[in-house]
Amino acid sequence: MNDSTPDPALLRPPIPAPLWLLAELTYRCPLHCPFCYNPVDYVKERAELTTRQWFGVMRQARQLGAAQLGFSGGEPLLRDDLEQLVGEARRLGFYTNLITSGIGLTEARLGRMKEGGLDHIQLSFQDSTREMNDFLSSTKTFDLKMRTARLIKQYEYPMVLNVVLHRFNLDHVGRIIEMALEMGVEYLELANTQYYGWGLVNREQLMPTREQLLQAEAVVNEMRSRIGNRMRILFVVPDYFEQRPKACMNGWASVFLGIAPDGTALPCHAARSLPGITFPNVRDVSVKDIWYASGAFNRYRGNAWMKAPCSGCPEKDKDFGGCRCQAYAMTGDAENADPVCAKSPQHGDVHAIVMHAQRTQKEQPLRTILFRTDANSRKIV
Ligand code: FES
Repeated sequence: MNDSTPDPALLRPPIPAPLWLLAELTYRCPLHCPFCYNPVDYVKERAELTTRQWFGVMRQARQLGAAQLGFSGGEPLLRDDLEQLVGEARRLGFYTNLITSGIGLTEARLGRMKEGGLDHIQLSFQDSTREMNDFLSSTKTFDLKMRTARLIKQYEYPMVLNVVLHRFNLDHVGRIIEMALEMGVEYLELANTQYYGWGLVNREQLMPTREQLLQAEAVVNEMRSRIGNRMRILFVVPDYFEQRPKACMNGWASVFLGIAPDGTALPCHAARSLPGITFPNVRDVSVKDIWYASGAFNRYRGNAWMKAPCSGCPEKDKDFGGCRCQAYAMTGDAENADPVCAKSPQHGDVHAIVMHAQRTQKEQPLRTILFRTDANSRKIV
């Protein structure tokens, strides 16, 4: 390089700060949902980070500019130190969000978290009916969740409800919206299943038909106009039914920093499914080096890694080539375009999966659903 040649590092756009830190405190969970995106081999994980180690992660991420902190899992309430973590997060200046099934949220714990400065709670339900909720979670938890929802209201949190949709509950969408209204929900997230982790294992059983989806969307739109501003409803369409991919994680390592229970740092929830990448661990490497300098986080950052059709696509800075994990799961190569995109040469495979699901729902008895359990986890691996 002579004096007039610019340093290539200076030509790269600056790396933005990790704005959103997701602390997956534990993969342990009292529920057994077959659509869970946690890894199917989670029992192989190293021990969970200690309270002190989480404090260190939060402090370092905050110094890098992280502003929002989600506590999730598994079920984060299974950690006895959750209140301490919430308090420390508030002290550091994070906006905090608890993502929970509600199981284990007693009034005493909620009171302590409110006092500690918890800003926001997202409660999940599996369905509007006790039967389906309890079937899908493989527990008797519907009434318990109802009690938790009342507690959340009582403590004057904005009520944010999340329901994952699939073949078994899409037809209940109107009733789910009514249930949310009765509960005083302010924001309802109806998120169609994304096929990662246990969701991918159960894809054939969970995939809805196109008619189911269209019908559910029509119900949502009709109820939205009836309800007005009383409750906001987000309906996330499953991307297998789309022609363009989702901008997964808003681009690899662009805003999202996930820390798994054992301290492994991940640019998305499913990244560990990708072969050939060693993800750094906060026990060994500083959060700053992980974010800016690690091979794993730089692997698919920006668009220099792309090949055709993504490299020549005018939409590449909008959708970032879609989802790396989905590209790998469906094509065997994480550098391929996400096959959900109609420009992908493998797009026909996505269509075939949708059509297959359509046929199985109409003609054949379903394969057995594999509920998330430690025992199954060992069996699959
Ligand atoms: Fe990993 Fe989309 S879930 S990149």
